[in-house]
Amino acid sequence: MNKLALYCRPGFEKEVAAEITDHAADLGIFGFARVQEHSGYVLFECYQPNEADRLAREIPFNQLIFARQMLVVSNLLENLDPADRISPIISAFEALSAQVNFQPSSHLFVEMADTNESKSLSTFCRKFTVPLRQALKKKGWLMASTPQKSGLFLHCFFVKPNSCYVGYSYTNNHSEHFMGIPRLKFPADAPSRSTLKLEEAILTFIPRKDEEKCLNGNMVGVDLGACPGGWTYQLVKRGLFVYAVDHGKMAESLYETGRIEHCAEDGFKFQPPKRKKVDWLVCDMVEQPSRIANLIGKWLVNGWCRETIFNLKLPMKKRYQEVMQCLENLTEMLNKQNLSFEIQAKHLYHDREEITVHIVLK
Ligand SMILES: C[S@@+](CC[C@H](N)C(=O)[O-])C[C@H]1O[C@@H](n2cnc3c(N)ncnc32)[C@H](O)[C@@H]1O
Repeated sequence: MNKLALYCRPGFEKEVAAEITDHAADLGIFGFARVQEHSGYVLFECYQPNEADRLAREIPFNQLIFARQMLVVSNLLENLDPADRISPIISAFEALSAQVNFQPSSHLFVEMADTNESKSLSTFCRKFTVPLRQALKKKGWLMASTPQKSGLFLHCFFVKPNSCYVGYSYTNNHSEHFMGIPRLKFPADAPSRSTLKLEEAILTFIPRKDEEKCLNGNMVGVDLGACPGGWTYQLVKRGLFVYAVDHGKMAESLYETGRIEHCAEDGFKFQPPKRKKVDWLVCDMVEQPSRIANLIGKWLVNGWCRETIFNLKLPMKKRYQEVMQCLENLTEMLNKQNLSFEIQAKHLYHDREEITVHIVLK
């Protein structure tokens, strides 16, 4: 029981490996990241006993950028007998429970990686959840079906129909979503699919209880690279008035709301309208990540906005290093001005070759 499994978008395993190795080293924990490209997950094997559990507790999950989920796992259970997969899985959970306190665990996910090959496992995993849940309840390891705010969350992670890892994550330090993926429904009246990126970002970065306080009808937003308007749509939906900056065309439906002004200008030159206090800046321009990071830094340092969500489009190579460099530069810019702020970055499910960053001035 000395491995951590981290789920990710297929193709980003190297980034997860670099990230977990850095975070573990910061805690004085060393190990080896096992990477199989395009598998949709990474295993981090710690050299010393019980350290995977420490990582699962002590690396703040919300500081991981590329990992969608983080769980402690068993060794791979292979050649499971289709007539009785449950017994060896229960034995593996038994071995786990000898090392950590299984009470009160509240929920179980039977999952697979987010790859095309694993799609065929999804029906099996859904069906298998029912008998496995019953067996775990009998053992007293599963309680009511409502997830709790603390304790363990059980996982059974299938890589093939006859091979799986069993494991757990910490309810207060994991993704609450199945496979680490929030399921969002595309709003039929939204102008573009990218609307889901901003919706997921808001869901990820802003606690639901604070959403109304953080985004409401008394606020003004600026959307750089706004066309055709999927991100503007999310802000307008929450009542904001939005300056939509882009040389392109905005969706007609957004004009009808009376909550936007289209500014056909260059997003790098645009400045907030005089005598208008801008609360929010969002930015989805396709540009070099370092240029975007500098631009966002300029807005925050000049006091032109106090909260921002933006994308950094990633180059194909050295993506992790590029992200770290951009975040470091931004942090340095804000620190130089003695600004107090919180920063969080995530490779969202709806992000492809890009990550999304949230910064709020305190
Ligand atoms: C990915 S699209 C934005 C999609 C938008 N967020 C949505 O949800 O519909 C990128 C946009 O950035 C705009 N863009 C790129 N460079 C720009 C610049 N320098 N100034 C303003 N807009 C720019 C492009 O015209 C394009 O419409």
